Amino acid sequence: MKLDVVFTPAGLAVVEVHGKAVFVIDVLRAGTTMCAALSAGARAIVPAASVEEAIRLGQTLGPEETLLAGERNRLMVPGFALGNSPAEMTEAQVQGKTIIMTTTNGTGALLAVSGASQVFVASIVNFSLAAARARAAFLDGAELLVVCAGHEKAFALDDAYVAGRLVEAAMGGRRHRKGLNDGALAALDLVRRYGHGWKRPLTISQGGRDLVAAGFENDIAIAATEDVYPVLPVFADRRVVLTPTAPA
Ligand code: MLT
Repeated sequence: MKLDVVFTPAGLAVVEVHGKAVFVIDVLRAGTTMCAALSAGARAIVPAASVEEAIRLGQTLGPEETLLAGERNRLMVPGFALGNSPAEMTEAQVQGKTIIMTTTNGTGALLAVSGASQVFVASIVNFSLAAARARAAFLDGAELLVVCAGHEKAFALDDAYVAGRLVEAAMGGRRHRKGLNDGALAALDLVRRYGHGWKRPLTISQGGRDLVAAGFENDIAIAATEDVYPVLPVFADRRVVLTPTAPA
């Protein structure tokens, strides 16, 4: 068995993604916001690497009804319809729409693993489904890779903590650490350090503090609410969509 955690997509330089079951984590906020959007009936989310690429995709995607969404420095990109807040992803806004989204770290993390065989978006708001899928992949003998999006291109405590919870869930009660990379071991240590409450690692993280300073405190409360958006987004063919069902 092989279970790797990398703390930013830059860590992928030394890890092969091909053939692996990949879980991308951006708790604050892109992963959480994607779960909110799909749960509110968005048709798909198309990650874009830059604002310019998002605008270009919006012009070329064809007959689908599209919305531009995303942030820079946590604030909505001027001219876009939506920012990167889960609270904005209401049915009235997003139902049936394809959302073209660009964020500082989260969308780039997805694009960085496009070569993997399966890519899921894991967060707290969909933790049970993500954990069940990680456990099933683990029992199937699949190689797992957990990719944290990070904060401002660096380590993010919130993502790393959730990575630890996911590793713990994938392993079930297994105590044997063979096959875990150093990132996975460190992520598990964070779970030991912070215990099993979701909120603390989010509120003390730099990303959390920056969100409070920008007036998005409520987004932290949403992001810390386990299973509030019970969907398991999967990224394939350049789109994030709902997986039809998840294993019990
Ligand atoms: C990101 O992609 O870096 C984050 O989602 C930023 C944010 O919270 O807006």
